[in-house]
Amino acid sequence: MITIIGCNKGGAAKTTTAINVAVGLAMRGGDVCLVDADAQRSASRWYAEREDSDLEPRITLIEKRDNISATLRNLDEKYEHVIVDVAGRNSRELITGGTVAHQIIAPHQCSQLDLDTMEELRLQIEAIRDLNSELKVFCYQTMATTNPLLQGNERHEFLEFVTEFETITPLSSVGCYRKVYRDVMSQGKSVLETDNLKAREEVLALLNEVFGC
Ligand SMILES: Nc1ncnc2c1ncn2[C@@H]1O[C@H](COP(=O)(O)OP(=O)(O)O)[C@@H](O)[C@H]1O
Ligand SMILES: [Mg+2]
Repeated sequence: MITIIGCNKGGAAKTTTAINVAVGLAMRGGDVCLVDADAQRSASRWYAEREDSDLEPRITLIEKRDNISATLRNLDEKYEHVIVDVAGRNSRELITGGTVAHQIIAPHQCSQLDLDTMEELRLQIEAIRDLNSELKVFCYQTMATTNPLLQGNERHEFLEFVTEFETITPLSSVGCYRKVYRDVMSQGKSVLETDNLKAREEVLALLNEVFGC
């Protein structure tokens, strides 16, 4: 199964979501290939740390840019899960990858700057679905507030905005703003490999909702 973690905004937590999902699926025994399709190479740098630290479970990382559709098709025959990290902002990798993917997880913060890019995503999905009518698209709220007084309103605002886009399904699972997500990036780890229970639960809920595991 090919899953692209993509949207049109840098800093929306695409790479963070991709590496946590990749490790989570591998922890369940899945054979996982993470594709770094972003020239900024954040996933590759994270992976280099993981390899240096000899962390288990092992996953495979492949770097591929520009037209990634043929590469993804090939990888899909070899791996149970292909997780693709693309660049923000109308990337060629999101479009070419989208034509062969099974699903896109689009991370967005509840901020006007992130949500403003959703119309662009809607138009891209419309074009991609002409070639790949089965493509599923999920919106994942990231860096949500942990303040209980603000949480309800923020979530309401997010859902009110996203539900206007009929082709984009908002996920029930939410990722909150937690320092541990930043810390693990430089350690080659997933939050699932830390003792932060809340962050772990967030990633497990996402895996359960999207991958049913
Ligand atoms: N849930 C989170 N809580 C706190 N910081 C986060 C969270 N998710 C991502 N970040 C941080 O936000 C920044 C952008 O995340 P990143 O995954 O690199 O975004 P993108 O790949 O969409 O550009 C990084 O510094 C990352 O560590
Ligand atoms: Mg990134």
